[in-house]
Amino acid sequence: MSGYEDYTRVSDLYDETRKPIGVEIILGCLASGSRPLSELVLLDAGCGTGNYSRALVSQVARIEAVDLNPGMLAKARAKLQPEASAGRIGFHQAPIGALPLKGESVDGVMVNQVLHHLNDDPAAGWPLVREAVAEFARVLRPGGVLMVNICSQQQITHGWWYLPLIPEAAEEMRRRHVPIDTLQGVINACRLSHAGCFVPLDGVMQGQYYFNGRGPLDERWRAGDSIWAMVDEDRLETVKAKIRALDEAGALEEFVREHDGRRRQIGQFTFVCARKVGQ
Ligand SMILES: C[S@@+](CC[C@H](N)C(=O)[O-])C[C@H]1O[C@@H](n2cnc3c(N)ncnc32)[C@H](O)[C@@H]1O
Repeated sequence: MSGYEDYTRVSDLYDETRKPIGVEIILGCLASGSRPLSELVLLDAGCGTGNYSRALVSQVARIEAVDLNPGMLAKARAKLQPEASAGRIGFHQAPIGALPLKGESVDGVMVNQVLHHLNDDPAAGWPLVREAVAEFARVLRPGGVLMVNICSQQQITHGWWYLPLIPEAAEEMRRRHVPIDTLQGVINACRLSHAGCFVPLDGVMQGQYYFNGRGPLDERWRAGDSIWAMVDEDRLETVKAKIRALDEAGALEEFVREHDGRRRQIGQFTFVCARKVGQ
């Protein structure tokens, strides 16, 4: 279960603003193997409401979708009911650190924006990240590909226009994200060979809604980014007051544009890709 977000509550709102970014990167990594996409079995680890699975299910042979949260899984099941009936997708309520799948049973593993929800201990060397990556390596067939969609420390600092308004939450978010070079070390230790890091520069997590300067005033909008679950009531009231004041002064659009500048150069997400050695 997420260490800080109440996904049972948020599952109803999540899809209103959340978009699957970087699907073309996932497809590119999958297609770079030796077998046709249409024959591949893909694991969606921490599938949430199934947005990535829905975007990819018609391209591959089958998806195994795993999530711990029953509310998120119920949304995914409802969304992908025809594909489930056709045997194209299966759902499993389980932790990514103990996958209910046989060894060497999938050709690809995608992990989209999940690792920072593990209640991990950086000081102890990220044991939960290590456990999850070891599981991904176990279930991958030789030649299979792991794709971890994560934010770099720089992206969590400069990749969202509203981060300067919520500095404590941004700091906590950085602390929760395993640094990419550390993740690469963990991946290598699991005998997965680094295949590249890819950044979807044009993709923004909430699509067009991201640019809505009045967004932080609305709980449904805030549900699209779990960072808001780390913002306490006092800070949220300060943010709302600032947004209203900027809006009244006709300066809100400019504030968003100015604080969105670095995002256009560094993006919001990084896909760390690796291949299981042995083919
Ligand atoms: C930010 S959501 C991402 C959902 C989906 N991958 C997406 O990108 O739309 C994080 C998801 O990870 C799930 N999750 C958190 N910890 C987990 C764990 N240990 N095992 C399985 N799922 C987990 C949560 O329930 C939630 O659905």
